[in-house]
Amino acid sequence: MHSKRKPVIAGNWKMFNTTGEAVELVQALIPLTAHLPEREIVICPPFTALSTVKPLLAGSNIKLGAQNVHWEEKGAYTGEISPAMLKDAGCEYIIIGHSERRQYFAETDENVNRKLKATLAVKLIPIICVGESLSEREAGITSTVISRQIKIGLADLSPEQATSIIIAYEPIWAIGTGRTATAGDANAICAFIRLTITGMLGTSIADSMRIQYGGSVKPDNIDELISSSDIDGALVGGASLKATDFARIAAFTATTAK
Ligand code: PGA
Repeated sequence: MHSKRKPVIAGNWKMFNTTGEAVELVQALIPLTAHLPEREIVICPPFTALSTVKPLLAGSNIKLGAQNVHWEEKGAYTGEISPAMLKDAGCEYIIIGHSERRQYFAETDENVNRKLKATLAVKLIPIICVGESLSEREAGITSTVISRQIKIGLADLSPEQATSIIIAYEPIWAIGTGRTATAGDANAICAFIRLTITGMLGTSIADSMRIQYGGSVKPDNIDELISSSDIDGALVGGASLKATDFARIAAFTATTAK
C-alpha cells in the first residue's frame, strides 16, 4: 500500500442474506467500523437488500455497492439492472467482471468493458475483477491472461475517465478455497497490473489507481497482504458475511505508510 492511495476494503456478499439478515449484519458492522474514517469501506449486498440497507448507512463509515450491472441504460433486458437504477438505489460502487460472473454467466472481457463504460457514464466507481485460474497459473500464462483482461476490459478510456477505477486482483484458485496467494505473489501480480495500466493510461493514473487483492482474505492474513507495496485494499467474500471478521479486516494494521 502506498501513502498516496487510500485503502479500500470491499465486502462482496454474493448470493447471501435476505433483507432481515442484511439489516442485522449492517447493524452489527456500523459500530465496529465507526473508528475507521480514514478507510474506505464498502459493502455489496444482493440487489434485493440495497434499498433496505442504504438508509441504515447514513452517517456511518460504510458505503454501498452492487455486485453486477447491465451496460444498457434501459430497455427490454429481462432480469437486468442498469447503472442508473443502482445509483438510484444508493450505490456508489459496482463490482464488474467477478470470476463467478465470467465462469457461470459467460461474462467476457468485452462485456466487462461495456459495463465499465456504462458505470463511469453515471459516475459510479467500478471495481474491475481480474484473475487467473489454477490451470492458467500452472501453465505459466498468468501474466498473459491478466494482461488480456486489463487491456480489453479497460479499452478505449481516456485518463480522465479512468481516474476512479479500482482493480481487484483475484486469483480464481484462491476464491472461497481458504488458499490465499502469498503476499509476495499477490503483490507481484498487482505490480504487473499497475505496469500494464501505465502502458495504457500513463504513470499518473497508474500510480493513483487502487488495486485490491481478493481470494480468502481473512483477519489473520490482511495485515501482511496490505503491507505490500502494490496492494491497496481487499475484496472480501466469505469473511465479509461476519461482522467481526470484516471489521477486523477493515481495521488492518499496515507496516508501510498509510
Ligand atoms: P472469498 O471471495 O473471500 O470468499 O475467497 C472473494 C471474492 O470472490 O470476491
